[in-house]
Amino acid sequence: MDKILVHGGKRLSGHVRISGSKNSALPILAATLLTREPCTIGRIPDLSDIHYMLTILQHLGCEVERASGKVTVHAANLRSTETPYDIVRKMRASVCVMGPLLGRERIVTASLPGGCVIGDRPIDLHLKGFAALGAEVVNRAGNMEVRAERLRGSKVNLRGKFGSTVLGTGNVMMAAVLAEGQTVIEGAAEEPEVADLANFLTKMGANIEGAGTNRIVIEGVKELRGATHNVIADRIEAGTFMVAAAMCGDGVTLHRVHPSHLAHVIETLREIGTEISEHGNTITVKPGAAHRAAKVDTRPYPDFPTDMQAQMCAMLATVPGISVITDNIYPQRCMYVSELKRMGANIEMQGATAVVNGVTSLDGAPVMASDLRASAALVLAGLTATGTTEINRVYHIDRGYENIDDKLNMLGADIERVKA
Ligand code: EPU
Repeated sequence: MDKILVHGGKRLSGHVRISGSKNSALPILAATLLTREPCTIGRIPDLSDIHYMLTILQHLGCEVERASGKVTVHAANLRSTETPYDIVRKMRASVCVMGPLLGRERIVTASLPGGCVIGDRPIDLHLKGFAALGAEVVNRAGNMEVRAERLRGSKVNLRGKFGSTVLGTGNVMMAAVLAEGQTVIEGAAEEPEVADLANFLTKMGANIEGAGTNRIVIEGVKELRGATHNVIADRIEAGTFMVAAAMCGDGVTLHRVHPSHLAHVIETLREIGTEISEHGNTITVKPGAAHRAAKVDTRPYPDFPTDMQAQMCAMLATVPGISVITDNIYPQRCMYVSELKRMGANIEMQGATAVVNGVTSLDGAPVMASDLRASAALVLAGLTATGTTEINRVYHIDRGYENIDDKLNMLGADIERVKA
């Protein structure tokens, strides 16, 4: 397995181009199943999660072509409506082929994704939405079979005890675009990735209003056509670079971003003392004179994202004073904390809350990445630590960050990737 060596203490400056959003690209690629005509999606990041999604589409019978950030998917003839466990277990987002397969073929069999290292990740709300459209849901030996003679529009509330569901909202929307009549999704996820998916579906001929708010209204249509679309910028990659720049930058400018998607992250970094300026699709970040401890609570968009929680903790680990970080979406998303402690951080977990007592500096150490955002947090910690931080299991980071080591090195970091 590859590992990453971060030689800490370097200052970052210059310009970085943010990639297309992984969490937009995955459901949008799945949505290409809804038409027999070819679709071309641009700004697709080169990530292992994207590779898994394309493998699933090929398994289902799609022709897939990939060239310089663009992917063309042609789902003229599907040969299967089953998703293989082999891939589902590697990538939970594979559940988002369920909605389009149900919409088009009226049947889908998917392996249950199961939990993962960031906690329990059920799909009950997705299934509740499919059932509201008239589908029958049967669990056969770990496989969910969802089928319907006819899909009929209906009203469904997708709010669960941790808020709404992002992929669940997308999944139900993708099934409802080909249902008969009107579907109203209440308690819908408001994330920009849901709005991006709705924009793509609209280009395909779907009739959707309200995406990006908590109430989405869909009028079903008979069929959809091929379309082209560029996915939005990855707000979590952007947020991660902003934190890196706040920790050890001398002025870093992020290009091709949507600052409005990062409003809460920007506000939090400013509260800490970071200087941030926004101009069109660029954001410039400077550390500011002195950093202050902060209170961070993750909640669904437009609040502070759970996907930025670990990176923020890595930053606050060396900010004087007591910071308090609570994850209200994935209360168990804290495995990286013990790794930061190995580097000298002073963090105590109290349930879903990390109480961080800022230390003067972190020391490089061998650490283990447990999930995608945890590995980003460890890279950030390594950038400011004294000595070398050796991050093992870096395949996690390749799931969601396109060339993060190269991009940071272009800004002045000293990161080596050691091939297995
Ligand atoms: N939930 C349920 N029932 C469901 C679905 C979700 O109770 O049927 C709960 C979850 O357990 C969680 C909360 O609802 O507590 C939110 O989960 P959600 O369904 O919104 O998560 P997701 O759609 O599976 C996406 C992102 C995650 C991101 C979350 C929350 C993709 C591919 N994944 O997951 O991204 O953390 O939304 O914003 O879009 C990442 O990129 O590192 C990542 C984990």
